[in-house]
Amino acid sequence: MMTDKVNCFPENFLWGGSTSANQIEGAWHEDGKGLSVADVQLFRNPKTLDELNNVKGNTDTDDDMIKNAIVSDSTTDYPKRHGIDFYHHYKEDIKLFAEMGFNTYRFSIAWSRIFPNGDESAPNEKGLEFYNKVIKECAKYNIQPIITLSHYEIPLTLCTRYNGWYNRKTIDFFINYVKAVITHFGKDAKYWLTFNEIDSILRHPFMTGGLIESRFKKEEFQSVLYQAMHNQLVASALATKFIHENYPDDKVGCMTTKLTYYPFTSKPADVLATQQKMRQVYAFADIQVFGRYPAYLLSKFKNEQINVDMNQDDLKILSQNTVDFVSFSYYQTSCVAADESNLELTNGNTTIGVKNPYLKSSEWGWQIDPTGLRISLVDLYDRYRKPLMIVENGLGARDVIDSNHQVHDDYRITYLKAHISAMYDAITKDGVDLMGYTPWGPIDLLSNSTIQMSKRYGFIYVDLNDDGTGSYNRYKKDSFYWYHDVIKSNAASILN
Ligand code: BG6
Repeated sequence: MMTDKVNCFPENFLWGGSTSANQIEGAWHEDGKGLSVADVQLFRNPKTLDELNNVKGNTDTDDDMIKNAIVSDSTTDYPKRHGIDFYHHYKEDIKLFAEMGFNTYRFSIAWSRIFPNGDESAPNEKGLEFYNKVIKECAKYNIQPIITLSHYEIPLTLCTRYNGWYNRKTIDFFINYVKAVITHFGKDAKYWLTFNEIDSILRHPFMTGGLIESRFKKEEFQSVLYQAMHNQLVASALATKFIHENYPDDKVGCMTTKLTYYPFTSKPADVLATQQKMRQVYAFADIQVFGRYPAYLLSKFKNEQINVDMNQDDLKILSQNTVDFVSFSYYQTSCVAADESNLELTNGNTTIGVKNPYLKSSEWGWQIDPTGLRISLVDLYDRYRKPLMIVENGLGARDVIDSNHQVHDDYRITYLKAHISAMYDAITKDGVDLMGYTPWGPIDLLSNSTIQMSKRYGFIYVDLNDDGTGSYNRYKKDSFYWYHDVIKSNAASILN
């Protein structure tokens, strides 16, 4: 008897969601936690797209702003201090994830919960206890953790006292932290990511690199930036080494922002400009996968007199400790032109690019492009030949909750459905090895770049406003039930 073939994802595909500690936990000074860069990120209440451009990652954070933040108790001015209070709601939230059918959950550990200032020699037991409880709660529902070791959460003291990742000592502090985490949780998690969007240090040096730009001379800052990048890459390789040596079955991934750019026209100059941009995008994962600096970066250093101190030991560490898989975030695409002076520009994931006339945009100006996800998957797989994991994707939108606590977010469903279909094509038609999908913010959380609560990604609505008012109650959106069916049917619900 002939049966109809059912289209669905591979068996054992990882379905879940992804968050970061600083955007959800709150409890900013509970149980011994120290301040991190996120706790001093000032909320500027952006209203227009232009204003949004100016707050990205608070790149202008300086010593005076930090001093003001340290003496302030405000959680309204510094919303990442309250997050969505996951610290006290984790049981309820993980239960909701389980109800959707998650078999995995990507979250990060707040470094400053384990080492409050970053430079202590012994970890804060209370911090370890919290993550132990989170991991146990996941285990209760057979949810596999995917743990990011650093997601824009460097302890503030490491920035103010040591100049963040510019200082080689920060490598040792990070490894000390990694050792504590892996010693405690190496057996509990199989998948580890070292740094979230490691390439983002070029776009927001304070949040990613702990660099206070105003402390450096303008003309030396490029060297500072790339030195910090190098130190972070060495730290990532040393963390990979430690994990591999102690838990050979654990897998370590790099995590990069997949910024896909198209040439604005077929003019060779536009194509060349796009190729140059893409080499910059790939440079970081190239180092983590191939274990050596790409020619693009080495000639950039030479041509632009960027001085990076890298010794033979560093190069050996990089070459001997490469990653097992490649994970990335994907939200949007944009265009590049050799001359962008008269072209309309638009926002992206802490980027600005030339607007693509063929794409629609989110309310935040991020251009929606599911085909771009398939293109990205194919590019990454052909380049690296490593299993891939999409650890962030989603639509930030303003949701409306009605008097029955319902949110009809069909726009989110449309976005996710198109992206999951593109993933399916990449797997089945293009032969890409894709291990999992953890869309961003399965529960509403604070936006990273603009710190708004009103930019919502979740399947679960959190009753909280930009000014910090609200009950913190959780409600299921329409997409909650939709994603449940996707996971349960291994996506057959949307593919057939
Ligand atoms: C990614 C970050 O770049 O984009 C997340 O890893 C972030 O931390 C996500 O939240 C979405 O960006 P935003 O600015 O809308 O929160």
